[in-house]
Amino acid sequence: MKRTFKRRTFLQTTATAGVGAVFAGKFAELKLDAASGDHRPVVIASANGLQAAARAMELIKQGKDALDAVIAGVSLVEADPEDNSVGYGGLPNEEGVVELDASVMHGPTGRGGSVAALRNIMHPSQVARVVMERTDHVLLVGEGALRFARAHGFKEENLLTEEARQAWLKWKENLSPNDDWLPSHDINTKGIGKLLEAARRHYGTINCNAVDLQGNVSGGTTTSGLAFKIPGRVGDSPILGAGLYVDNEVGAAGSTGRGEANLLACSSVNIVEFMRQGKSPEAACRLACERIARQTKMKRLLDDDGRPNFDVKFYALNKRGEFGGASIWSGAKFAVNTGDTESRLVDAAFLYKRATR
Ligand code: GLY
Repeated sequence: MKRTFKRRTFLQTTATAGVGAVFAGKFAELKLDAASGDHRPVVIASANGLQAAARAMELIKQGKDALDAVIAGVSLVEADPEDNSVGYGGLPNEEGVVELDASVMHGPTGRGGSVAALRNIMHPSQVARVVMERTDHVLLVGEGALRFARAHGFKEENLLTEEARQAWLKWKENLSPNDDWLPSHDINTKGIGKLLEAARRHYGTINCNAVDLQGNVSGGTTTSGLAFKIPGRVGDSPILGAGLYVDNEVGAAGSTGRGEANLLACSSVNIVEFMRQGKSPEAACRLACERIARQTKMKRLLDDDGRPNFDVKFYALNKRGEFGGASIWSGAKFAVNTGDTESRLVDAAFLYKRATR
């Protein structure tokens, strides 16, 4: 997806549409920055990040650094009890405990920080940032990450919402016909105790990447990970190079979806390298999907046609403000905010078209 940043063209377009007055103010703000040599900003996020992208762009337009903006954006999603894939309200591990993973990367200083399997802290992305800024490490996990967060004044709280607890209980009661946990049923109920496909495959996450007015690039990825995972399971989100990668000379990439597949492919760093070699963000994301499809050989992970039976989605932008996304299966969208309109959802490219039912 190529974007052009010609102010005259933009004003003509908006005026023709009859909304010039609405956008002229916002655009004039950006023009002032452009006159002082600033770059056209952009924020992208996974589809659950419309609000996050809007918040991040608001801060970028105020002149804030892209990482400040990204963390402020994803923090909204981490605090949202309605999003059951991230932070508060995230679906728990198999013991009913919410465990969070997050990473951040700051392009201009070439630094990054991550936390994994962190319990009781609503904003793992903020803890990841403190790991980056206040330690000589990159990744802290589990109890150590929690103690570190406590030391830095993060408040501990129960992250398991009633809705997430009910979903976990339902999963546990339907997991296996060979244990004693059963869902509520009566004498006529059939077919209980089978694995719930939808629950088994629940991998939510938010990835958000941004270019700020200075042309600096940053990103963050935060998640409660695979629903009902084995305690201690870590996905791709906190692994720099897999669930997130930023190179200030090139751009940023991140992912959502089946982390195990992406951990084996380290796709985000590959996407950034593909962009460095001249690929568009969308083409680079598509190459990452192709690599995962090629690398997946276990029959239990393939459909009857030999295609992955799971999805992974990638989101990327380059320093010029071009952006794109791709997923293994059709139907994915991602959020974009270019600072001149509200956040919007854009179709991602894909490898395979889902059969319509
Ligand atoms: N991509 C998120 C996860 O697998 O945990």
